[in-house]
Amino acid sequence: MSDDLDAIRASTEAAVAAASDLRGLDAVRVGALGKSGTLTALLKGLGAVAPEERKARGAAVNAVKQAVERALEERRGALEAAALDARLLAERLDVSLPARPHPPAGAESGAIHPIARTVEELTAIFGAMGFTVAEGPDIESDWYNFNALNIPAHHPARQDQDTFYLPPAHGAGFETVLRTHTSPVQARTMLAGDPPIRVIVPGRTYRADHDATHSPMFHQVEGLVLDRQITLGHLKGCLIDFLRVFFNIADLPVRFRASYFPFTEPSMEVDIGWDRRTGELGRGSDWLEILGSGMVHPKVLANCGIDPQEWQGFAFGMGIERITMLKHGIPDLRPFYESDVRWLRHYGAPALAPFTLHDAG
Ligand code: PHE
Repeated sequence: MSDDLDAIRASTEAAVAAASDLRGLDAVRVGALGKSGTLTALLKGLGAVAPEERKARGAAVNAVKQAVERALEERRGALEAAALDARLLAERLDVSLPARPHPPAGAESGAIHPIARTVEELTAIFGAMGFTVAEGPDIESDWYNFNALNIPAHHPARQDQDTFYLPPAHGAGFETVLRTHTSPVQARTMLAGDPPIRVIVPGRTYRADHDATHSPMFHQVEGLVLDRQITLGHLKGCLIDFLRVFFNIADLPVRFRASYFPFTEPSMEVDIGWDRRTGELGRGSDWLEILGSGMVHPKVLANCGIDPQEWQGFAFGMGIERITMLKHGIPDLRPFYESDVRWLRHYGAPALAPFTLHDAG
């Protein structure tokens, strides 16, 4: 009786070892342990064994069953690993291949939305100047959006910004707003790390405003530079360079005009030269306001745990829709958010043509 058991064990284990794929292995499992498998038959046959031999015979059959199960499991692991290796090899992608310049025949090509394109472009330009990108939440506490930036409660600047207030979060202990500008990320960046700091913050912003030139949701890019010896000259050089490269006009006139922001001192509005009548940039005798800027107010530095005696720098905030409309001659703000495919096709950038810094400035 024990011979057939040894023989079954030997032949099953040989079959397991010989199985070259998972399907073959499963056939071996069914042949031994399936409903009419060889080992199953032996287990079923235990009832017919004489009572005094049944215990020993049962133990022996079970031992073989367990050994076969172990062998099956091991082989399955090995075959699965080999199958995965083969698949990885077969599906290997060469990520260094250049993108196809044209969509495959019959396929429609997509386009990059002008906002995304501008964000890519300005990230590349400021990136070349050593800036990194920082982010913050769209839903912001009023402390970051206002107080940290030297705009205390009841300050008139709070009214200027047509803030969307959110229902007070239960037990939060502070009010939450949809951020009205990207400036709260100045405070977040200063609190998160030590100077020197050189970041831009492209992102969504919100104000309760809606007409042909205002959308309740729009985009800004903030800039913040802090170091030991930063002056107004750095602010001007940085922004003039940026604007001339972004608009690809090497001699674009740029004007700095004294202004007021609670979080910068002194503060300056920045204008570029254009012809109001034709909309042409860099020509004519008109000025167009593009962005706000200034030297970071010492109170803002102190609010964010930075010693104003040691560190100083500049900040700026710019409307992304505004510079996008100017650069591409887009007359109306509203279609930016309407997802009209015809508009996207017209103003969108080819998805597969990588953006390159052009050589102005
Ligand atoms: N946060 C200001 C605004 O939204 C712009 C700004 C940013 C001005 C940084 C100065 C410095 O109008």
